[in-house]
Amino acid sequence: MKVTAYSVEQTRELGALFASKAMPGDIYLLEGDLGAGKTEFVRGFTAKLETECTVRSPTFSIINVYTTRMFPVYHFDFYRMCDPDELNETGYYEYINSDGVCLIEWGNLFPEVIPQNAVKIKITDISENVRIIETEKEL
Ligand SMILES: Nc1ncnc2c1ncn2[C@@H]1O[C@H](COP(=O)(O)OP(=O)(O)O)[C@@H](O)[C@H]1O
Ligand SMILES: [Mg+2]
Repeated sequence: MKVTAYSVEQTRELGALFASKAMPGDIYLLEGDLGAGKTEFVRGFTAKLETECTVRSPTFSIINVYTTRMFPVYHFDFYRMCDPDELNETGYYEYINSDGVCLIEWGNLFPEVIPQNAVKIKITDISENVRIIETEKEL
């Protein structure tokens, strides 16, 4: 699937569409440069699952956990991580094998820790408000 989002709202709507099809145990890998819209995608995804939690970039914390009406969402950002050993203390290895859903920004920096079943979502910044969003998953 390859779609063009012409606004941040459209990127969030696509996140919501993914959430409506997501199953516990799913892992989504978000690829794209800084400012591409990975965190906005997660915002739309999580909003669809009805949460009281605010989605913030886990750039410094590596992980944020959101409780939702459906299943827990584990939001990772590997951008500032120097060594994948840092993941041991975040609960990563428990979460990727749990009944929650993992969304991982910059997971492509450490492909050795990404499970085979992860679904890649690539966001490309085209212009100020336009993004191309590509994934191998059919929705
Ligand atoms: N179509 C769009 N999709 C997503 N974000 C957009 C879009 N157009 C503009 N933006 C802006 O781009 C930025 C994306 O930020 P963010 O989601 O934090 O990026 P990332 O997590 O990939 O670094 C936000 O400031 C958002 O308002
Ligand atoms: Mg981000």
